[in-house]
Amino acid sequence: MPDVEFCRWDQLASDPEHERLSAELDHVFFSSSARQSFASTEERAAFRERWLGRYLLHFPEYALVALDGGRHVIGYVAGSLEDPAHDPLFADLDHFAHFGALTARYPAQLHVNLDAGWRGRGIGARLVDRFAEMAREAGKPGLHVVTARGMRNVGFYLANGFVERGAVDMGERELLFLGRDL
Ligand SMILES: CC(C)(COP(=O)(O)OP(=O)(O)OC[C@H]1O[C@@H](n2cnc3c(N)ncnc32)[C@H](O)[C@@H]1OP(=O)(O)O)[C@@H](O)C(=O)NCCC(=O)NCCS
Repeated sequence: MPDVEFCRWDQLASDPEHERLSAELDHVFFSSSARQSFASTEERAAFRERWLGRYLLHFPEYALVALDGGRHVIGYVAGSLEDPAHDPLFADLDHFAHFGALTARYPAQLHVNLDAGWRGRGIGARLVDRFAEMAREAGKPGLHVVTARGMRNVGFYLANGFVERGAVDMGERELLFLGRDL
C-alpha cells in the first residue's frame, strides 16, 4: 500500500496549502455522505456544519486527516471527547435524548470517512484507533458512534471494538448507539 500519513488538523492551520487541504477534506465529506442533494447552498452548509464543521472548528486537535504520498487528503476522523448530551454545542442532535446515560459511559464521539478509492485497506481502522488513543489518554472511559441498522459501516465498527449498546426506532430507520471501551 502506498504511504499514508496522519496529521492533526490544528497542526495544519498554518500550512501554506491549508485552503487546498480544506477543500479536499470537504470533498471526502460530501462524496462519502449518504445525503447527496440539498435544496439550497444554506442547507448544504448547515449539513456540513452539523457533521463536520463544528468538530474542525472547536476540536481541531482531535481531528486527524490521512494524506497520501502526494499530500492529498484521502480521509479523516473528527470528533469530540466530552459528553455531547450535556454540551449546548450539540443541542440540535436530539437522538441523544433517546440514549439515556450511554453518553456518560461513552462520552467521546467520532466521525470517520475515507475517499471511495481508499476504502477497505485498513486506513479507517487506523484512524479510529488513533482517535481512541487520544480519548483514552485524556482519561475518557468510552467512545461512541451513532449509525443505523443495516448500514455497511456497522460491520466496520463491530470489527473495531464497538459493541451495540443501544437502539432506537425512529420510524423509517433504527438508530444504533455503538460503544467502545477505552
Ligand atoms: C466506514 C469507513 C470509514 C471504513 O474505513 P475503511 O478504511 O474502508 O475500513 P477498513 O479497511 O479498516 O475495514 C473494512 C470495512 O469497512 C467497511 N466498509 C468498506 N467499504 C465501505 C463503504 N463503502 N461503506 C461503508 N463501510 C465500508 C466494511 O465493514 C469493511 O469490511 P467488509 O469489507 O468486510 O464489509 C469507510 O469505508 C468509509 O468512509 N465508508 C463510507 C462512509 C461511511 O460509512 N462512514 C462512516 C459514517 S458513520
